[in-house]
Amino acid sequence: MSSENTIKKFNEHVIQSYGRYPLAMKQGSGRRCEDEDGKQYIDFGSGIGTNSLGYCDEKWADAVCAQVRTLQHNSNYYYTQVQADFAERLCAIAGYDKVFFGNSGAEANECAIKVARKYSFDKYGKGRHTIITLVNSFHGRTIATLSATGQDVFHNYFFPFVEGFVNVEANNIDDLKAKLEDKTVCAVMLEYVQGEGGVNKLDKDFVDAVYELCAPKDILVIADEIQTGVGRTGKFLAGDHYGKKADITTLAKGIAGGIPMGACLVNEKLAGVLTAGTHGSTFGGNPIACAGGLAVLDRIESKGFLDDVCAKAEHFRTRLEKCSEVAGVSGLGLMIGITLKSKKAADVAKAALDKGLLVLTAKEKVRLLPPLTIEVSEIDAGLDLLFEILEE
Ligand SMILES: Cc1ncc(COP(=O)(O)O)c(C=O)c1O
Repeated sequence: MSSENTIKKFNEHVIQSYGRYPLAMKQGSGRRCEDEDGKQYIDFGSGIGTNSLGYCDEKWADAVCAQVRTLQHNSNYYYTQVQADFAERLCAIAGYDKVFFGNSGAEANECAIKVARKYSFDKYGKGRHTIITLVNSFHGRTIATLSATGQDVFHNYFFPFVEGFVNVEANNIDDLKAKLEDKTVCAVMLEYVQGEGGVNKLDKDFVDAVYELCAPKDILVIADEIQTGVGRTGKFLAGDHYGKKADITTLAKGIAGGIPMGACLVNEKLAGVLTAGTHGSTFGGNPIACAGGLAVLDRIESKGFLDDVCAKAEHFRTRLEKCSEVAGVSGLGLMIGITLKSKKAADVAKAALDKGLLVLTAKEKVRLLPPLTIEVSEIDAGLDLLFEILEE
């Protein structure tokens, strides 16, 4: 089938809640994919940070296929070894006591919100439920995570939103201090690098202040590492760059290498908060996703892998900063935001497609989230295409 036929059928039957580019993707291998018309693309987007090992990585695919042929799913009424193995490895590498598995970032954040509110309810009673989130944050598309998201543009149509979220300006310690005076606050939720909000890294002073001000008041810190986690920034968690360990960390996107999974990791203090019947998810911790997750962890824990991510990130930055159209490069590791001098990010992303390069945007920036396995030669080939557009 050609892209045109697929697009026609698609638009007849799929709710059009996305602005899509007019092409249908057919297959991928490594860091390259191909559309139904045979056009090839270098991928600097990795399915919005999900294909951490690129397309159809052999060991990952073997692990996933073996699991599909053994036990694809039963339910959380029963135990499975693969979920136990993945939970053990994930908690160990991330430095947490326990994990709850869901299927997406929003679901992981829903779990984090529930853990924070129930912890506070169990200990302090009703009313201490407010969660501070940051202006320009993005926490998901469910009603609660939209309510948590600190961007007015998302607070439309779906009224009423969920109560109990207050926003603080990112990096504004005075604003944080003032809002923390409210006795109903139970948690602060942050992204160390705001992804959808424009690939902006939080200042170290601000992050330090969050932890210092919250601890004495028993206010929990929730790190939404859905975009920054699982090696994306060159460390397993972006919090490691700040020397911080949140009470709760949420992960999704690249965690299972392109299979839907979300995880809410909690420290020892919170390990017993959710009791039988208080939370659940039919597909959460699905064996196939866990097998994919184990294959991702195998690679991330292999010798030198994260150092390579850092070196490749440096290579990206060095080359980008030399481009005459680039006004600035933001982000951390292989989470890269490019501020342009005169061109529009959306136009650049579209022109990149024509050249055979997939890039993303975030607000007014071009955003790159390449597979963590990308090779320097592929970075160079992709950047050559990008610079043809930027410097023309
Ligand atoms: C930081 C952050 N939190 C939450 C989400 C929501 O994740 P999902 O789309 O898997 O629900 C995203 C997705 O972009 C994200 O970047």
